[in-house]
Amino acid sequence: MNEILKHLYQQHRDAERMLTELTEAVRLLRATGSNGSEALSALSGCRAAIQGEVDAHFRQEEQSLFPVLGRQVGTDEGPIAVLMEEHCAFRQLQLEYEAALAALEVGANGDWAERLERAAAGIVSLLPGHIQKEDEVLFPMAEDLLDAAAWDEVSSLWRQASTPPSP
Ligand SMILES: [Fe+2]
Ligand SMILES: [Fe+2]
Repeated sequence: MNEILKHLYQQHRDAERMLTELTEAVRLLRATGSNGSEALSALSGCRAAIQGEVDAHFRQEEQSLFPVLGRQVGTDEGPIAVLMEEHCAFRQLQLEYEAALAALEVGANGDWAERLERAAAGIVSLLPGHIQKEDEVLFPMAEDLLDAAAWDEVSSLWRQASTPPSP
């Protein structure tokens, strides 16, 4: 299998681990309340994974595989359009999660624990189906349709997408 695809599948397994940790962190928050530092530190670990690995993964898909495969299968409708909409929905949930967690961290008044739970529940329900569509539909499609020259393009764009922007 192509190295880029292997990498993408591996990143999905990492994201699944993050989802397990997120579920556990929310359970801890419910059990101990937002004064429990253990819950906040677990939730903060999940935020770091989302802002690090998950964001990088989305960027790599959107800047390398999607545009190259998109020239063959289109991006206005079909799988890539659906997957892009889900990335967008995920980013909205991420923002809500980050806002609620930041509020809990400074002890702000309000229903932030519930809002965080809602955002986390949204992430936990969105991501597995998204991963499944890519694992079972998009990646096999890419393997079928892309030739060696197209994979070279994907890997060169991947390298650009993986380089952090200079300040
Ligand atoms: Fe994706
Ligand atoms: Fe993905």
